[in-house]
Amino acid sequence: MKIDILLGLQWGDEGKGKIVDALSPGYDVIARFQGGPNAGHSLEFNDVKHVLHLIPSGIFHSDKLNLIGNGVVLDPAVFKNEVESLGIPFEEVTKRLVISKKTHLILPGHRILDAASENARGSSKIGSTLKGIGPAYTDKASRNGLRVGDILRDNFMEIYKKTLDYHLNMVRSYNFSFDLAEFEKGWFEGVEILKQFTLVNSEYLVHDLLNQQNRILAEGAQGTLLDIDFGSYPFVTSSNTISAGACTGLGVAPQQIGEVFGIFKAYCTRVGSGPFPTELNNSTGEKIRKTGAEFGATTGRPRRCGWLDLPALKYAIMINGVTKLFLTKADVLSGFEKIMVCTAYRINGETTDQIPFEIDANIEPVYREVEGWSEDISSVREFDKLPSSLKNYISFLEKETGVPVTMVSVGPDREETIIRQ
Ligand code: GDP
Ligand code: IMO
Ligand code: MG
Repeated sequence: MKIDILLGLQWGDEGKGKIVDALSPGYDVIARFQGGPNAGHSLEFNDVKHVLHLIPSGIFHSDKLNLIGNGVVLDPAVFKNEVESLGIPFEEVTKRLVISKKTHLILPGHRILDAASENARGSSKIGSTLKGIGPAYTDKASRNGLRVGDILRDNFMEIYKKTLDYHLNMVRSYNFSFDLAEFEKGWFEGVEILKQFTLVNSEYLVHDLLNQQNRILAEGAQGTLLDIDFGSYPFVTSSNTISAGACTGLGVAPQQIGEVFGIFKAYCTRVGSGPFPTELNNSTGEKIRKTGAEFGATTGRPRRCGWLDLPALKYAIMINGVTKLFLTKADVLSGFEKIMVCTAYRINGETTDQIPFEIDANIEPVYREVEGWSEDISSVREFDKLPSSLKNYISFLEKETGVPVTMVSVGPDREETIIRQ
């Protein structure tokens, strides 16, 4: 058996949570492989919206196993709140979810350092979610991190305190005020909750599950353009959000990867700072934001909105080896007479369809105008019944990218999904 991966091809918030939940019936295991509580994955069913940050989006299916992989960074305080807000009895959650012992912990000091370093950046802020992601991955790389398995050690408090001192020393250089006690209370309560879960050597578990013919779906967080290596550095997150991240974040080999589902919106959004060539700072952007309810699922910040960026999409498809494309939020563009798609960039008079090393204000998008559609498509469930101009838009994207669009999402609910036969 191979592992399929679902990941975002833009700057996050492409609708990963909704689609993973919708695909879950076809899998036995749903596994998160990177990121942490910076993620906000929304899913909706029975008229209730749920937002998940750390827990994989298969959790609402009673017969599925969910795994938080070693590539994730986990904040016990967030974890506790999330477990308690699921509306699923605690005992049941502990059956449906297991956590890798190698998952790194986000410590109270990481939250403080994230806030202090963003504060110090002044006008060049990354726009971090302030969940401690950057400092936690920094400690992982610099070999100062603590992992979930460490909470079971007899000397856990000793290593916690040593690391806290190390963090407090660093914070001192920022001249930043904070309330450690406030962070620590929820954090230690979370550690006690965490101890009640099965903590696993997840790489062995994943291989055993595959050998027993289980179907595994790896759920990405963030998006390709926020990848630490290939995103718009330094305005990125601190993990590998791309398909290769599933190998390191779960302990699987490249040849064990099956399908790579790349998910993208019919337009683009971005939260936080950083370049966004097709951004619309006008009433059209405002209309997309309003119709698409484009406000951050984690921070509530308004998302920046713009037209679809094909050079960026093709880049993401290339880096990830996407085998199937899933288009979301097609319903949001209903009522736009004309839709723009950026097909190339003009940089200093030269036209290119490659993303340059430096993405700055010099980039001028070259647009192609596409016929819009006016119908409300949210109740459509068959691909052939979609408006012809939307089908033409999809054919155009398939021709440009060379990858088939096999799923179209027409609303936030689990049911509002068209799987193309
Ligand atoms: P994720 O981080 O990729 O899981 O995406 P988010 O949950 O942060 O943001 C996607 C938002 O769009 C959520 O509010 C979803 O409920 C919503 N959504 C997902 N798919 C669709 C869709 O096809 N149409 C509409 N209108 N909303 C959608
Ligand atoms: P999901 O999984 C959108 C952005 C932040 C910021 C940058 C770095 O819901 O798609 P970080 O907290 O990681 O240090 O922030 O990355 N960012 C996201 N944007 N969706 C996300 O996750 C994001 N996770 C981080 O806004 O610009
Ligand atoms: Mg999100």
